Amino acid sequence: MASSPFDWIDEQARLRERAGLVRKLRPRPAESGLLDLAGNDYLGLARHPEVTDGAAAAARRWGAGATGSRLVSGSTELHAELERELAAFCGFEAALVLSSGYAANLAAVTALAPHGSLIVSDAGNHASLIDGCRLARGTTQVVPHTDPDAVRKALGTHDGPAVVVTDSVFSVDGDAAPLRQLAAACRESGAGLVVDDAHGLGVLGAGGRGAPHAAGLAGADDLVVTVTLSKSLGSQGGAVLGPAKVIDHLVNAARTLIFDTGLAPAAAGAALAALRVLRREPERAARVRAVASGLHELLTGEGLSAVRPDAAVVSVRAPSPDAAVRWAADCRGAGLAVGCFRPPSVPDGVSRLRLTACADLSDVQIAEAVRVISRTAP
Ligand SMILES: Cc1ncc(COP(=O)(O)O)c(C=O)c1O
Repeated sequence: MASSPFDWIDEQARLRERAGLVRKLRPRPAESGLLDLAGNDYLGLARHPEVTDGAAAAARRWGAGATGSRLVSGSTELHAELERELAAFCGFEAALVLSSGYAANLAAVTALAPHGSLIVSDAGNHASLIDGCRLARGTTQVVPHTDPDAVRKALGTHDGPAVVVTDSVFSVDGDAAPLRQLAAACRESGAGLVVDDAHGLGVLGAGGRGAPHAAGLAGADDLVVTVTLSKSLGSQGGAVLGPAKVIDHLVNAARTLIFDTGLAPAAAGAALAALRVLRREPERAARVRAVASGLHELLTGEGLSAVRPDAAVVSVRAPSPDAAVRWAADCRGAGLAVGCFRPPSVPDGVSRLRLTACADLSDVQIAEAVRVISRTAP
């Protein structure tokens, strides 16, 4: 049989199979009946009636799609309203909404790291920050996880523009970055700080205003923050928050703003509605943190190796990729959806179950989830 130009894929597939690292898409019914500790709907807003109504009303008024890049098709009042409210809520001068958190990270890192600049990047950063570093014209230096001294040292080797990029809450283990110390290290050498607050918005800070707000850094003129609208806000999309001059620069320099279709109106309408629910019901943020702590306490009480959560993500170590996959499948069989993280999605090669807290979970559901995880443990 003639060879195909894609035959090399077969070898990759064999290697993946042998290492227990095959990934498969699984159908998701509209109503699964599972207890969900896998999704990122931290505040339970994805199906909140005000949020779904916000999506529907926005689609009816502005159309199903944005019809083009915001620079070409025009920028709607809906997008502007979302940007104003998001910036004000998190304590920043301005915001720019993009089609995803991924696009927001590519925008921030590439536009703020020109040729000749240095990017100092935490070893545990999310793939979208890593890809931002890969696409940027500046040179990237990866530093050990949550190590402000290593950041200081890296910055000391460079003369010229520099940015430090970090997740606020790391998506694999749910641990927090030392934002105050990182900001201090940046200030000593005049570097900018870019913080991905995907897992902090809606969870940390007063009423869920995010990790930079909790650290007393919101609104600083040397800080740029990215967020996703797809986790706590239950919608889809992303945003960059920061000084107005940085946001104006992104409009002119960020390729994921210039060459990408604007955020769909329904997603913008849903995010705006969710933000207003969060402002009205700040207790949702405190509840999701309490759920995460409760999960951790009960899991460790069962003798499982769980990392103390700094926000809503609770990570439980598994002995191997295969064991993690089986464990997650057994949980699912017992009515509980949990995430399963394996290489290459984990920087240290350790496979885990990844649990996400949701403000809607009752204490009875938390106890039931821990019972299932403990009973199915390898
Ligand atoms: C830390 C972090 N940053 C960025 C993203 C990307 O956001 P989005 O899903 O909106 O593209 C995610 C998750 O998906 C994330 O966990």
